[in-house]
Amino acid sequence: MTTPKVAVLVSHAGSNLRALHAASRRPGAGFEIALVVSNNSTSSGLAFARDHGIAARHLSGRTHPVPEDLDEAMRTAFAEREVGLVVTAGFLRKLGPRTLQDFAGRVVNIHPSLLPRHGGHGMFGDAVHRAVLAAGDQVSGASVHHVTAEYDEGAVIARREVPVLADDTVDSLAARVLAVEHDLLPAVVRQWAARTARSQGHERS
Ligand code: GAR
Repeated sequence: MTTPKVAVLVSHAGSNLRALHAASRRPGAGFEIALVVSNNSTSSGLAFARDHGIAARHLSGRTHPVPEDLDEAMRTAFAEREVGLVVTAGFLRKLGPRTLQDFAGRVVNIHPSLLPRHGGHGMFGDAVHRAVLAAGDQVSGASVHHVTAEYDEGAVIARREVPVLADDTVDSLAARVLAVEHDLLPAVVRQWAARTARSQGHERS
C-alpha cells in the first residue's frame, strides 16, 4: 500500500507546514508531504521544504503569467507527485478551475476564525483577528474547510475554539489561534489519510 500523499501550499511563514511536517514524521501518521508549492519564491515555507528534502516548487503569476498555464502547471505538479490531498495553509492565491475540478473534495484550507464568521475576500491573517476584536467576539478559533472557487465558502470540516480575552491584541489572539491551528490541521489530514488507506485496502480486497 502506498502512503497517502499531501501537497502543502504556502505564501509566507509556513508554521502550519512545519506542524504538518512534524506530524507526518510521527509513528503511525499515515501520510507524507510529497510537495510544497509557493507563489512566493522567497517564502520561508519553501526554504523549509528544500532543507527537509521535500520537493518544492515556486509557481506563480511570475513563473506562469497566463492563468490557464499556472492552473495546468499546478495540476501537473500534483499529478507528478501522486498527490491525493491539497492543503492550503496561509496561501494567498486562488486555485485555478481545472485544479479545483481534478481535486474536487480534496482541497482543504485552514482559516484563523470560526467560519462562517470573519471569512471571505481580504480576510487573511491579522485582518481576521482585527475583525474579531472589533466585533467584540468572546470566542474565536480556527476552521479547516473544503476549498471552492470562492474564498472561505466551502463546507467546514472541523473547528477548534479559543477564548478572546479582554486585554487581547491582534498579536496575542493570533498566537493563541495559531497554536490550535497546529493541532487541528494535522488532525484533519490524519483523518483523511486513514480514510484513504481504508479505501485503498477495500479496492485491493
Ligand atoms: C494562518 O494563521 C492561517 O490560518 C492564515 O494564515 C496564517 C498562515 O500562517 N490563513 C488565512 O488567513 C486564510 N484566509 P503560517 O504561514 O505560519 O502557516
